[in-house]
Amino acid sequence: MILRINGGKKLCGSVAVHGAKNSVLPIMAASILAEGESVIHNCPDLTDVDVSINILTYLGCKVKRSGDTVYIDSTAMNHSDIPDALMREMRSSVVFLGAILARTGEAVLTYPGGCELGPRPIDLHLMALRVLGADIEEIGGKIICKVRKLEGGRIELPIASVGATENAMLMASRCPGKTVIANAAREPEIEDLQNYLQKLGVGIHGAGTAIITVEGAGEKKIVEHTIIPDRIVASTYALAVASAGGRAEINNVEPRHFATVIDVLKEAGCDIETAGDRLKIACGKHLKAVRPIMTCPYPGFPTDAQPPLMAASLKFEGTTVFVENIFENRYRHVGELRRMGADIRTEGRVAVICGRKTLHGASVEATDLRGGAALAVAALGAEGESRISGLKHIDRGYEKLEKALSELGADAARTE
Ligand code: EPZ
Repeated sequence: MILRINGGKKLCGSVAVHGAKNSVLPIMAASILAEGESVIHNCPDLTDVDVSINILTYLGCKVKRSGDTVYIDSTAMNHSDIPDALMREMRSSVVFLGAILARTGEAVLTYPGGCELGPRPIDLHLMALRVLGADIEEIGGKIICKVRKLEGGRIELPIASVGATENAMLMASRCPGKTVIANAAREPEIEDLQNYLQKLGVGIHGAGTAIITVEGAGEKKIVEHTIIPDRIVASTYALAVASAGGRAEINNVEPRHFATVIDVLKEAGCDIETAGDRLKIACGKHLKAVRPIMTCPYPGFPTDAQPPLMAASLKFEGTTVFVENIFENRYRHVGELRRMGADIRTEGRVAVICGRKTLHGASVEATDLRGGAALAVAALGAEGESRISGLKHIDRGYEKLEKALSELGADAARTE
């Protein structure tokens, strides 16, 4: 399958943003702790969610999906390992580790897969779980964990890692005593996980700040939770409009979650209005280059929006500089963008984009999730037809991207 986009025409339409992938995945892992039923609304239809469903089913949970609601009954969970094939399918498989350990006291996993963005170690995840009482051995590619005694403790993260923060929150949710997670990640998805855990009866506070405290509790509950809107999907749609020009309404958004992206688009010259969960954007032909973009942990500019912003900045008048501070190798889309006529130079973590060169449609390949989204954004602003392959990467994080782009008025279709 390929995504065919006939670009060069203005967008005009409205689209709704689906639930956040990076919220729903840890919350699905957390559902193990409920030892009962979780009803999760606004669950996006993504292949990474399918992988989570497969993991939960393997673990012995009953999972049912109806529209955008997923019902998970974790009462009968009877495994504490995850097969290598499932682990390799996505990075987030590793957040099951903290939840499994908290529930069963043991876990056997292998190293997780996920987007190739440079080395993505899990040393901080393991450090945090050790603080909470896990003995962990790494033998022949297997991570073998056994809990000595669940016990709250103080975890000092040297990097505000999203996944390590989530794993620590999950395991601490069943640890007697108090856990403090210092230098915790502050992403909105961490707050969403906290909200879900609070519904389980866990005394957890501080998400959204650098210090999270957890007082573990062991209640069984039926929990109902609605996933927050996906801020990176919302950003991508807005950047698509910036690339192609035109006007659009983007619904089901939480504007403060992607305020940095909105600010950059305003700086470039887009008109943006927000009201409640709606964003209206109008972009003329003459957008201008913006100040250097440095990706940072939240509330800084998100690394996940860097590739689609780079694609949009190809249409900005002047030179835009990017510094990718989170991942070592997150410029794999650059070579593909050059096939469309982009003038981009990279040196290590820095990329320099010389905007407003004429872009033309081309056959390009998505090699990771947000890099794939960047190709779609660039294709919308390029003259003629682009054919994007490697859709399996895009489908991990965007629900039916071709449909969403068509709702925005694009000539986009998925074809053989
Ligand atoms: C999460 O990945 C997101 N994934 C990523 O989204 C996102 O790019 C990233 O956070 C940063 O915002 C999910 O939430 C499922 P990290 P995660 O641990 O948790 C280093 C997307 O496109 N590090 O915060 O894996 C690491 O190498 C994806 O949706 C260690 O050194 O990111 C990186 O340089 C891709 N040791 C930095 O920390 C560790 O044990 C931040 O990574 C863990 C991380």
